[in-house]
Amino acid sequence: MPLLNTPKRRSGRGICQSPILLSGIFIVTLAVVLLVLSQTYLSPSRLSRLKAKLHIMDFNGIRKLGPQKQHVRSERFATLFHLELAERFNMTQGHANARLDELVATLLSMESVGITTVVFSSPWEFIQPTDGPINFNYLDLLVSSACQNTRLKVAFIFDLVRAPQWVFARWPVAKAADSHNRQYNLLSWFHPEANQLALEVLKSVVTHLTASNTGCVTSVQPAFNNEYEAKYTQEHDCFQDYSVPALTAYRQWLQVRLPQLVDLNERWGTNVQYWDDVAPPVLEAGSVMGPDLKTRYWDFLKFRELKGAEVLSRACSVVQSAGVQCFHHVPELFTVLVAVYGITMFKHIASDPHTDYIVLDASFSTPYGSPVHPAKLRLSVAAAVGYGKPVHLGAAVQHSIEYDLLSSAFRTALLTNAAGVGITNWLPYIPMNASLKETLHPSLTLGGQEDGGGSTAACSQGGVSVRVGLFIHFESCAAWHGLQWSSYSKDPVHDLIEAVAQKLTFECAPRVSVFLEFDRLMNALPSLDRVMFVEPLVVWAGKEFKSYTEVKAAIEKMPHEVLLFPGVEGTAAAEVKVLPYL
Ligand SMILES: *[C@@H]1O[C@H](CO)[C@@H](O)[C@H](O)[C@H]1NC(C)=O
Ligand SMILES: *[C@@H]1O[C@H](CO)[C@@H](O)[C@H](O)[C@H]1NC(C)=O
Repeated sequence: MPLLNTPKRRSGRGICQSPILLSGIFIVTLAVVLLVLSQTYLSPSRLSRLKAKLHIMDFNGIRKLGPQKQHVRSERFATLFHLELAERFNMTQGHANARLDELVATLLSMESVGITTVVFSSPWEFIQPTDGPINFNYLDLLVSSACQNTRLKVAFIFDLVRAPQWVFARWPVAKAADSHNRQYNLLSWFHPEANQLALEVLKSVVTHLTASNTGCVTSVQPAFNNEYEAKYTQEHDCFQDYSVPALTAYRQWLQVRLPQLVDLNERWGTNVQYWDDVAPPVLEAGSVMGPDLKTRYWDFLKFRELKGAEVLSRACSVVQSAGVQCFHHVPELFTVLVAVYGITMFKHIASDPHTDYIVLDASFSTPYGSPVHPAKLRLSVAAAVGYGKPVHLGAAVQHSIEYDLLSSAFRTALLTNAAGVGITNWLPYIPMNASLKETLHPSLTLGGQEDGGGSTAACSQGGVSVRVGLFIHFESCAAWHGLQWSSYSKDPVHDLIEAVAQKLTFECAPRVSVFLEFDRLMNALPSLDRVMFVEPLVVWAGKEFKSYTEVKAAIEKMPHEVLLFPGVEGTAAAEVKVLPYL
């Protein structure tokens, strides 16, 4: 789900599909349906019903469980992205033309509603338009607007995927390309020299920011995706990238594991003659219905996962060694877009010592327009929190959004031990006024008036203060090639997890931990009373399969429930596919 995209990019959003006439008609129809759906969703009666639902899930009995490890829950952030800085404040037109007083006034208004951190962004192409010096004057002007006039801290997103043209002139193949070989003005992180250069520029920028604004610039995010999220290079929901350096890296990666081409052919059921002809499947969002269990598909996903995590880790190590914290934005975890965006790399990013904190982006609707309830966001936050890093929930408020819903989401996140919450894409939709201040600082006391209601009262009597562990094999969420347009359930992953969220809500489970990997669940079993286990679709032979069987045996001995991902069309249940070790 694209969350941080600027309005411009939002309008260019599309679906990666073959250019068939039908899809155009389909999209128009869809737009109308979405409009109707969103109207319905935001109608007062729908909202009050949603609120009624939310009350049921208000973390009843959490206090009975004794102290939990909690991060300070006082961080509040708001973004001012490059496009906003350029368009609203003329910041890109030089010091004399920049509307600095307006920027400072905006920053002061942010401070007045309790925002503690402003998140700025700049693309590489803007601060180094020619193969020459970096425009540190601009960065200083930007950062000092906050650091010298307010007590706001600055978190800075360095948008490296937007590399300058001179980089592409030097290395034409450094552009990301999609499966139809269309190139984009986006840096392919597989190009070794271009990536190395990006890291050097990153180092200079972070070193400069830290030196000239000691203590005020707290953290930097190296961004390799056009939505500032830690995921695969992306344009129009396409599986990317298929550029020459990406394909070369893939072949090398395979060759290290299977030096004999004949073994690869046997593994994939192919008959390729030369290594140069070895290629990943041509993947397009929505082109395959149902889970894809082919080894050739999973090998490519694994490569993307490991390489992506490696690039992001290396970039964060550069940030850290230049003296500040490194953070990543991550998209919503449980959607059918996991494979398209390679979000399974989240497991590595979240546990990487080079990641200091995580911002989990949340929107309030699925890519096809149905609402996402805070109850589901709770599970995403819980999954991220499980890795032990501070997690912030960032709400994209591009369109007018109900304050009640926003407040519910923030409260849910904070009660699930998020370290902070914030808003993105808020300008010009949300004024910095008392209502927003209240929304950003929801009451966290439990059992108050707003937690009232029959089932809530019953829950808080105790007896239900069980600790539930929910297991969702994250890699299996990548079994779908994007939205299932022709199915009743457009996003089976979302629908399953949302149903689980509602179920946990209904049973007023006070404390839910979410696990994405077998060994993490295994380690936590002694601290759990009950397990909800979503049976995986695929498991890698070897170490992972061993963990899987151990976990299965262990949960047999305790209260547990097994749930199934929606299976292959026509079969009631999906069988676990064991992928041969690579
Ligand atoms: C922005 O800067 C340009 C100069 O590049 C100037 O002509 C224009 O008036 C400025 N716009 C505003 C709204 O200040
Ligand atoms: C804050 O702004 C919103 C949106 O314009 C408005 O609905 C709300 O009444 C305002 N709150 C206050 C306290 O002025």
